[in-house]
Amino acid sequence: MSSVSGGNGPEAGKAGSKVYVKVPASTANLGPGFDSLGLALSLYAWIEMEIADRTEIRLYGDQMNGVPVDKTNLIYRVAQKVFERAGVSHPELSIGMYSEIPLARGLGSSASAIVGALVAANALTGGKLSQRELFEMASALENHPDNVGASLFGGLTVAFWDGERAEHIRVVPDERLEALVAIPRFELETKRARGILPAQVPLKDAVFNVGHASVLVAAFCTGRYDMIRHAMKDALHQPYRASLIPGMSDILERATDHGALGVALSGAGPTLLALVDAKSGRKAELERFLLDTLSRHGIEADTMWLAPSAEGATVLTHFDPSVTLMENVKGEVRA
Ligand code: HSE
Repeated sequence: MSSVSGGNGPEAGKAGSKVYVKVPASTANLGPGFDSLGLALSLYAWIEMEIADRTEIRLYGDQMNGVPVDKTNLIYRVAQKVFERAGVSHPELSIGMYSEIPLARGLGSSASAIVGALVAANALTGGKLSQRELFEMASALENHPDNVGASLFGGLTVAFWDGERAEHIRVVPDERLEALVAIPRFELETKRARGILPAQVPLKDAVFNVGHASVLVAAFCTGRYDMIRHAMKDALHQPYRASLIPGMSDILERATDHGALGVALSGAGPTLLALVDAKSGRKAELERFLLDTLSRHGIEADTMWLAPSAEGATVLTHFDPSVTLMENVKGEVRA
């Protein structure tokens, strides 16, 4: 059985000191929960932030190629929004970021940057903004609450955002659940994957998703993981996005025959996500099936086994400000 709570918040750090924040990646939608469900995953980004005399932005890791390091940087811009709202002014910042989360693959890389920036900047103000304010700012910046909710609160975040108000309930999946992601070696911008969706959908498709998403959440809350294979089906976005990800339809149809509890497009894609019983004896078979299916459609991909991350964005107090971010992160990153 999973535990349910209204959310856990990172603690505020002291104003003026250097702050460090660790943020999980996320998979959004989980099939039918379009713009509503997000699951935090054990793949992380780390952000350091300090008030400085001159702005300097250091980005570490292959995922950061091409990301701007001037004041147009997303982390810098989001931090300024926090300061503005908190009524303080810190125009010059020293920022560092290292991320394991691949860019534009449907694993919430931009949400992790937004949430990391919000939480770090808020910690620098001494925690002037509430968790709700941060969540509402994050939802407005992303235009949907699913990835940012999971990165901020952790676990399975069930959320809505009506354009002003954001609400969520966090459900922590038990340790039986693992996630296998197949990450195609091409990027897919969320804007393009949303642009392909129709402005209006038939009522029967909306009803299909309300029922499936509701049962999916209930399955997580009660540990009825046998129900996931049926409940993870979607009629609102996956059918339209299939043309952007060769091999996706085959995988959605057949992954449960190869040991998956359920399968979905991860967020806006192109990554595919299978939920798996941690004790399954068919993990290698499932991994082979995903890679072979994508390969048959001419798509090279990499797989990763991840666990749900119960914790959301966390202010780290054990990092040493006298050494570099990378030295601090070393030992925490995946081998
Ligand atoms: N719910 C969003 C979408 C997630 O599917 O477009 C984007 O990461």
